[in-house]
Amino acid sequence: MYLGLDVGTSGVKALLVDADGRTVGSADATYDVTNPAPGWSEQDPADWTGGVAQALAQLRSAHGSAFAAIKGLSLSGHMHGAVLVDAEGAVLRPCILWNDTRSHAEAAEMDAAKAARDLSGNIVFPGFTAPKLAWVARHEPEVFAKVARVMLPKDYVVWWLTGRYATEMSDAAGTAWLDVGKRDWSDTLLSLGGMTRAQMPDLLEGTDVVGPVQSARADLGLPQDAQVVAGGADNAVAACGVGALGEGDGFVSLGTSGVVLAGRDRYAPMAANAVHTFCHAVPGRWYQMGVVLAATDSMNWLARITGQSAGALSDALGTKVQAPGGAKFYPYLSGERTPHNDAQVRGGLTGIDIASTPQDLTRAVMTGVSFALRDSLEALRGTGAQLDSALAIGGGTRSPYWTQLLATVLNLPLERPDEGAFGAALGAARIAICGVTGAAPAQVMSKPPITDVIQPDAAHVAAYDDAYAAFAAAYPTLKAMP
Ligand code: XUL
Repeated sequence: MYLGLDVGTSGVKALLVDADGRTVGSADATYDVTNPAPGWSEQDPADWTGGVAQALAQLRSAHGSAFAAIKGLSLSGHMHGAVLVDAEGAVLRPCILWNDTRSHAEAAEMDAAKAARDLSGNIVFPGFTAPKLAWVARHEPEVFAKVARVMLPKDYVVWWLTGRYATEMSDAAGTAWLDVGKRDWSDTLLSLGGMTRAQMPDLLEGTDVVGPVQSARADLGLPQDAQVVAGGADNAVAACGVGALGEGDGFVSLGTSGVVLAGRDRYAPMAANAVHTFCHAVPGRWYQMGVVLAATDSMNWLARITGQSAGALSDALGTKVQAPGGAKFYPYLSGERTPHNDAQVRGGLTGIDIASTPQDLTRAVMTGVSFALRDSLEALRGTGAQLDSALAIGGGTRSPYWTQLLATVLNLPLERPDEGAFGAALGAARIAICGVTGAAPAQVMSKPPITDVIQPDAAHVAAYDDAYAAFAAAYPTLKAMP
């Protein structure tokens, strides 16, 4: 038996699988995010360990004998968070999370140093770890002076489980301290923010074994010989869960935010268009992704202001894609990451007519988000990534209209996997299998069973190409809006 733990922003999911990766049982625990000031987003690391303990207790009571046969476990974690501990391992302040933007000034300063993009392969985004430490140095010098180690969120849980300070390439790649091409800490990048290698955890590959569960955690009831495997960052591990490892493999996710992800066999960064280039959670691979900040979040906005559920709005459209309409939506409700890296820009709704209906607005929102994902796909293609088809995952893919529209806008066949047959917790369990048995990731990390393949609607591809060109050309106008 193997265990995958997905340490997410809103909770922990624990998934117990057999040696073939088939689900035996699962359990969840939730926790909160605190926002002590506008743009701030924090969590207490004890909430993650508490959540893990709670989820494991549920699994143990529901599946006692399978739980007692666990040989290995691994973790997926939300990225970029800064867990700061002193020389005794005591947490110095709440973890500053991935979606916290307080360090925008420090990020811009670091990003201005040429070495930053050259070595890390990425823009230094305010959410990344390095600018957070620069913020702490500037605003909380008494805390900064005591920082003996910096850990990423899931690595704190690994330390709690094993007693070892360890991280792995995929999470380290989101710190802006890693030479992402060389898969090693960069002394140049570390020194940009006044940090040293000694403050970094041991750097492993995601499938490397960290060590056994320490005796101090005996109360969890895990077998004494159960090994903890390093794991990975949430999107990398989700890619392991759907078998997106190398060239030609990828997924489109219509979640709260939208992601287009492509597995890569080589390191081909392109920071200028705000593509993220990170190490994969398996050795010798990387992945690249474009991120759209408000995907289903845009539909949720429309649902709130119309007083109808997102599901009802979608159902009213039926399944047959229509030609692009006059109403246009630009989904920059919270700014945008790829390709604009613009936290300030805001969304737009244009071309509304006295006769516009709620259905017209729903189509406009779905189309605008699909165009933003096309921006990400084009940015990925600019790096040389090839995607001839992609898995479609995330809550938005429950809408038949939206999935068909997205396939048409991207001009890409979209494969919808079986619900429940994928996810970051499964990816983590698969990493544990590889770590403990030494099996090759490509063998263990297969694609999930596909329920259906949604083909682009050929009758509308050209019209959506033209409408996409107009969408892409509108950004400078929106940016210039007061
Ligand atoms: C990636 C990113 C997210 C977070 C939260 O850059 O910020 O994937 O890890 O899910």
